[in-house]
Amino acid sequence: MKIMILNGPNLNMTGTREPNIYGRTGYEEMMAQVERAAQSRGHEVACFQSNYEGALIDEIQRAWRENYDGIIINPGAFTHYSYALRDALASVPIPAVEVHLSNIHRREEFRHRSVTAASCVGQIAGFGMQGYILAMDALAGKTVKNDL
Ligand code: DQA
Repeated sequence: MKIMILNGPNLNMTGTREPNIYGRTGYEEMMAQVERAAQSRGHEVACFQSNYEGALIDEIQRAWRENYDGIIINPGAFTHYSYALRDALASVPIPAVEVHLSNIHRREEFRHRSVTAASCVGQIAGFGMQGYILAMDALAGKTVKNDL
């Protein structure tokens, strides 16, 4: 499968940012481990991180133009309020899985709500970097967005 992995604002700070919540593994190392897991499963992956909403939307649209089979997205704080990202995910017929390093449901109340998850086939939260690998395996069984 051709999978696009997208990470939103502040995820590039993983490793030093609130390590009690997000862990001590740096962003580059985390993505390298996820890429190795993808390669061992025969997937082709592209990883992209941005602190800018529009840049993430551009990548979602690129995933469609370039025939990606799946999107794994950790929208960071955009999760909780970006209707633009939600619309971008809904605009493409590519199945997406939302990932969060932390369990957003046991944190502050504003994190309990995801506006982007409704445009995804599912959400994985609370398993740290393993969440990206779980998402990959979930996508492998889902080639059609609405295939329940
Ligand atoms: C996060 C959870 C969000 O609430 C937060 O704003 C992040 C990271 C996570 O991976 O746990 O930046 O998406």
